[in-house]
Amino acid sequence: MRNKDKIKYKGLIYPNFKKILDKIFTSDSIRNYIYTTVFIKPKNYQISLIDKKDALYHKRVFMLKEKIFKGCFVQDVGNFEVIKSTSSFFIDKKLIDLCAAPGGKSILLHSLGFDVTAIDKSQKQLDKFKMNLKRLNIKLDIQKIDFLKRKINDKYNSILLDAPCSALGTFRRNPDVTIKVDPSKIIKHQKIQLEMLEKSLEILNNKGFLVYVVCSFHPFETIDVIDKIMRKHKNIKMHKIESNKMIKKQCGYFINPQTFEEIGGSDIFFVSVLEKIS
Ligand SMILES: C[S@@+](CC[C@H](N)C(=O)[O-])C[C@H]1O[C@@H](n2cnc3c(N)ncnc32)[C@H](O)[C@@H]1O
Repeated sequence: MRNKDKIKYKGLIYPNFKKILDKIFTSDSIRNYIYTTVFIKPKNYQISLIDKKDALYHKRVFMLKEKIFKGCFVQDVGNFEVIKSTSSFFIDKKLIDLCAAPGGKSILLHSLGFDVTAIDKSQKQLDKFKMNLKRLNIKLDIQKIDFLKRKINDKYNSILLDAPCSALGTFRRNPDVTIKVDPSKIIKHQKIQLEMLEKSLEILNNKGFLVYVVCSFHPFETIDVIDKIMRKHKNIKMHKIESNKMIKKQCGYFINPQTFEEIGGSDIFFVSVLEKIS
């Protein structure tokens, strides 16, 4: 586990990063938790056992012994919380994961009984995905598709859009993101996120559910994106998420990393559950 005695970075948090965090996390207790852990890289990781829904909360490993590694997908507990708290909206188990590689969420959904079609545009990421599937002995329909360029002919009732973003929410594992908060890049991300949401809505059936996820807490990539979509599409309803690990904000929910304090915190994700009502 991380050694809190060694925390000495409090004064060094980059102003931009702090400003963005302060906008989203208004609770002093959560902010203090994040500030005091921001540069402490977690030494242990969460493992996902594909046969047990709740295994993630209870199994942490210091070192990945080969025996454990073979049957597991190592990922942050925040990822698991996103799927755990939203998968019940997907009544139709046939689901498309539009930005799927390297496969964390697709594999979690598969372990919950979903028939996942997984697409991604990056060959490098897809190669990692294939290695993960091979290790876990899972077969999934994975395809190299640029979602923004290729027309998808099928329509779906269940869509996961884990969109590309600044990855600000992964600051504990990737501290460099805290100094790379470049406004022009964030604006570009938002453009892509909006485009992807528009295209996702085109292939979503009426009464179907679309879950939008980003591992960021920047307002432009989260609240603002969904706000723009909701203003434009009056036939979209946002749903309430039942999770004591998340904080409700306008247009969606943020993971509260403090709720995972006893297991070393978590990445921060933003999640919004949208239904096409007509
Ligand atoms: C946040 S990562 C996805 C993580 C993955 N869902 C998981 O849980 O392991 C975003 C992914 O979007 C993919 N991506 C970006 N633009 C895309 C596009 N136009 N079409 C399809 N995939 C895209 C990237 O290659 C990247 O793998």
